[in-house]
Amino acid sequence: MQTVLVTGGAGFIGANFILLARKLAWANVINLDKLTYASNLENLAELQGEKNYHFVQGDIGNFELVSYLLEQYQPEAIINFAAESHVDRSILNPENFIQTNVVGTFQLLEASRLYWQKLSPSRQQQFRFLHVSTDEVYGSLKSQDAAFREDTPYAPNSPYAASKAASDHFVRAYHHTYGLPTLTTNCSNNYGPRQFPEKLIPLTILNAMDGKPLPIYGDGQNIRDWLYVIDHCEAIQLVLQQGKIGETYNIGGLNEQTNLIVVEKICAILDELVPKSDYSHSSLITFVKDRPGHDRRYAIDCSKISQDLGWQPQENFDSGLLKTVQWYLDNPEWVNQVRSGAYKNWLKQNYDHKKLE
Ligand code: NAD
Ligand code: TYD
Repeated sequence: MQTVLVTGGAGFIGANFILLARKLAWANVINLDKLTYASNLENLAELQGEKNYHFVQGDIGNFELVSYLLEQYQPEAIINFAAESHVDRSILNPENFIQTNVVGTFQLLEASRLYWQKLSPSRQQQFRFLHVSTDEVYGSLKSQDAAFREDTPYAPNSPYAASKAASDHFVRAYHHTYGLPTLTTNCSNNYGPRQFPEKLIPLTILNAMDGKPLPIYGDGQNIRDWLYVIDHCEAIQLVLQQGKIGETYNIGGLNEQTNLIVVEKICAILDELVPKSDYSHSSLITFVKDRPGHDRRYAIDCSKISQDLGWQPQENFDSGLLKTVQWYLDNPEWVNQVRSGAYKNWLKQNYDHKKLE
């Protein structure tokens, strides 16, 4: 069985990926995570004590630590999920994004390069560095524009997108210059169990469960392509095992929705699952001041991964959203633990100045 160093594995996508990898028993996993506000070790509690899973708290930007872990565990692959991942936070405090997403990825690449260069030729050939990135690097689409392809020029608009774009360029350069066997995936908005409730879908579910306002930025007509997290994790495994070295792969849900429709669908599910006698959940919808520089539309053309590797998203939006809402209803301890003082401070910081329109 191969050994994989996963970074950022205590976050939303990384945790779902590790749980799936261990369920399918295709990899030993070393999880390196700094444990920022977005992480949650509860996500991985069921793996505690497993001999094929090790957790290490630390920063991808810590070159010495990463080098030590590579020597110690001799992984065949690194999958880099670690990042500051929320656009609104990047608007209020961009510096962390440069530190982790740009400098951190650089240090991780540098440690990986030195480790890889010392491997035997056959192990060098086997090794992969897979970098998980976003469709936001391509910028914003108009309604009639064709979806993002792998050769769409980069045009990042938020500090988050710019920092991810920079990291993607470093990954590309490490392949081109040093021959490091890299793979890059650019995916659309993920949703599913275990997502920190600063992002639209879990924020809406938790606020609606509490009878609190459901904030919609601007006119609610911004469009995102929603990808179920398990579909994404399966695509990453496939790219790791069968992707062509040095290539990038777009991963999307084939599921474009306006934000208003997403929120209305969540409300309709909650009306079914948690009926309230006095109001419907959609009456909580509240239009608020728009996000600065808000990208209008993202859409992914995922025909490359489909044609070359045979991947297609399996989940449809209605069933994926139902599973997601049900997960938050079924896990009140997870939800209560996440709603800490730090989370309340974030809600105040992000929403107090977005006055009702
Ligand atoms: P997340 O914010 O839920 O989790 C990020 C994890 O990385 C956290 O556990 C955090 O503690 C860890 N981390 C942060 N800085 C670190 C550092 N310096 N060293 C080590 N660990 C660190 O993010 P996510 O939603 O799981 O996203 C994972 C990856 O997928 C990110 O690279 C993100 O840019 C990308 N992505 C996410 C989405 C999405 O919709 N969530 C969409 C496209 C791309
Ligand atoms: P988000 O989940 O933050 O992801 P991203 O910015 O990476 O796409 O936001 C998804 C969409 O929902 C985006 O268009 C912004 C919008 N949004 C709201 O309307 N209200 C909110 O409270 C949040 C967090 C997001």
